[in-house]
Amino acid sequence: MDNSEQARERIRYLSDLLTEYNRAYYQDDNPVVSDYSFDLLLKELEDLENRFPSLRLPYSPTQRVGGEPVRNFKTVHHKVPMLSLANTYSREEVAEFDTRLRKLTEEKFDYVCELKYDGLSISLTYRDGVLAQALTRGDGLKGDDVTANVKTIRSVPLRLSGGDYPKEFEIRGEVVMPHTSFYELNRQREEIGEVPFANPRNAASGSLKLQDPAQVAQRRLDCFLYFLIGETGQKLHSERLEKARAWGFQTGGYYKRCADLQQVYAFIDYWDKERENLPFDIDGIVIKVNDTSLWPLLGNTAKSPRWAIAYKFKAQRVLTRLESISFQVGRTGAVTPVANLAPVLLGGTMVKRASLHNADIIRKLDVRIGDEVYVEKGGEVIPKIVGVEVSRRKAGTEAFGFITHCPECGTALVRKEGESGHYCPNEEGCPPQIKGKLEHFISRKAMDIDSLGEGKTELLYGKGLVRNVADFYDLKYQDLFALEKTIAGKDGEKRQLSFKEKTVENILGGIARSKKQPFERVLYAIGIRYVGEATAKVLARHFGSMEALMAADYGQLREVEEIGEVIACTVSEFFTRPQEREIVARLTAAGLNMVYEEVRISDSLQGTNWVVSGTFSRSREEMKRLVEFHGGKMLSGISSKTDYVLAGEKMGPEKRKKAEKEGIPIISEAEFYTMIGGEPTLEALNRLQSDSSTESSSNVAAPTASSTVRPPVQGDLFA
Ligand code: IVH
Repeated sequence: MDNSEQARERIRYLSDLLTEYNRAYYQDDNPVVSDYSFDLLLKELEDLENRFPSLRLPYSPTQRVGGEPVRNFKTVHHKVPMLSLANTYSREEVAEFDTRLRKLTEEKFDYVCELKYDGLSISLTYRDGVLAQALTRGDGLKGDDVTANVKTIRSVPLRLSGGDYPKEFEIRGEVVMPHTSFYELNRQREEIGEVPFANPRNAASGSLKLQDPAQVAQRRLDCFLYFLIGETGQKLHSERLEKARAWGFQTGGYYKRCADLQQVYAFIDYWDKERENLPFDIDGIVIKVNDTSLWPLLGNTAKSPRWAIAYKFKAQRVLTRLESISFQVGRTGAVTPVANLAPVLLGGTMVKRASLHNADIIRKLDVRIGDEVYVEKGGEVIPKIVGVEVSRRKAGTEAFGFITHCPECGTALVRKEGESGHYCPNEEGCPPQIKGKLEHFISRKAMDIDSLGEGKTELLYGKGLVRNVADFYDLKYQDLFALEKTIAGKDGEKRQLSFKEKTVENILGGIARSKKQPFERVLYAIGIRYVGEATAKVLARHFGSMEALMAADYGQLREVEEIGEVIACTVSEFFTRPQEREIVARLTAAGLNMVYEEVRISDSLQGTNWVVSGTFSRSREEMKRLVEFHGGKMLSGISSKTDYVLAGEKMGPEKRKKAEKEGIPIISEAEFYTMIGGEPTLEALNRLQSDSSTESSSNVAAPTASSTVRPPVQGDLFA
């Protein structure tokens, strides 16, 4: 048996095994392997597929990490229109719904009550048991083809189990963002100065519309299916749900058959309270006639079926007094108004504060100190003020004027064109901004100095020992030894704790070790606005050193393909500031890495300039890296400087024309491999993998995302 036969077998084996593991995890809620073992097998499969791209199976679990970005989603007509549901907010209306139906048919029937997931609806088509297409609802008649994105959702089966599914069928459900993913996403967004999503629904819908599936994979979406379309062999909707579960779909298992209205009400009451404990948002429950043979008889209105209705939970709302408005300054200088309320019970929790978002919202609501205000807790996780009871307003109150100066440092606030938020521009002197920068610097994905965690940074800042990130590297033993910290004991009493030898050694050891972090991390750690991990890597790779990056002007930054207007502006502006330049100089003197360590496998392309276009057996990004591994330089567009165009399938006709006109040789993928001395070596593949691990890290919790050397796994057989 030759290598490729062995690879074929192993690829099938791994794809099937991992599909089974996924199913055990997501559908049966019964994991059978550790995350670590799962990751190893997935990695092995990925490596094999990279080496033998034609052997990748259509249901391969590696698609979970996301494929090539798409420019525009294809619009596709739904075979069956995606209807909506009629809403009700009261039991009376539910009773009317029941009476209406019982008049339309003599048949006895019961209901199925389900959760009404608060996300966005999706329609999945399976052919021969393999996920073939995923469409958004769109306008109900046609939606966007988001297949590549949906494939990254781990709870959506790429291949079904059992064998009794129709050859081709559609199933519909809801894509949601679980609370944990939502919090993590917003934390990351705030870290790089992006506006956080208001609620998980917006976050889910924003995520599904991203053009890069690898990014979607990181959003950790979830999907519940609740509606099998067409004739599937089961008469009852509840049987269809059971069947769907057996085929591998996540149906949630929260539904219940209800024989009468009393049982329906009990289900509503139960979930109205219990929804607080769910790991995702629901906004009501859906009541469906269980006997699907009655559905055609009961029919549809223009917008919704008559056999189902949605009971929407009322957003919990209370009236309370607005005592004051205070302002929080975040790490990026964003100023957020917060309402301080007379404490009031809302949905089981005591609420004392509510979000007011920004100056525009305050003006629109015309809230005034002392007003009685309505506070609501709806889909949003944080309660918000939704209105004022003007009839109870006291005479003599005044419209609230937004603050003009930073409450922390007194600097005049600024408001950027087209943005609703106010910012404190005093990045260098505003305490919460400085503390934020220090914390970002030591964080795990930056310099990873965990010995400085747990409030130690704040203490060092408070004692005046650290004022900027370069100060960490000047800390001496005697600065830290016996440093006192006040902590609250279990009894609530405050105690003094002083740093002992071991703590000090730990801190200094951690700081010293951080000097080994690669340049791209240093670049991320110094906290340039909008420069996240991926951007730092792009910049490090492109410019090669801090010196070159600092010397680059706006135009040179814009030449980098992935760098847009905003980042080019913030980066060039950052390095014009003398304070930042001084910090970089001190970090350099302290011995941090300021040069990008290039992976160089050969010099076969030394001195040549390349443009890559079209699709290849590996991602375009990986092809570009291969050019660089062999000494070539990447250019963003075809010009007289271009020596070669590396062309994959579907290369843009415009580009081809231009290359031909300029007389630039067009090289195919196979020819390219010849130029670099054969198909990529295992070393190259490993570097490609480890290098892209932070940008398109798999959906699986990786034990060490930054590890560069792959542990030996069975696939090495083919090396
Ligand atoms: S059934 C033909 N079941 O609510 C009706 N919808 O307001 C098919 N939704 O567009 C929908 N949970 O996006 C159904 N258990 C559930 C649901 C559900 C959430 C969404 C769905 C629908 C919207 C209608």
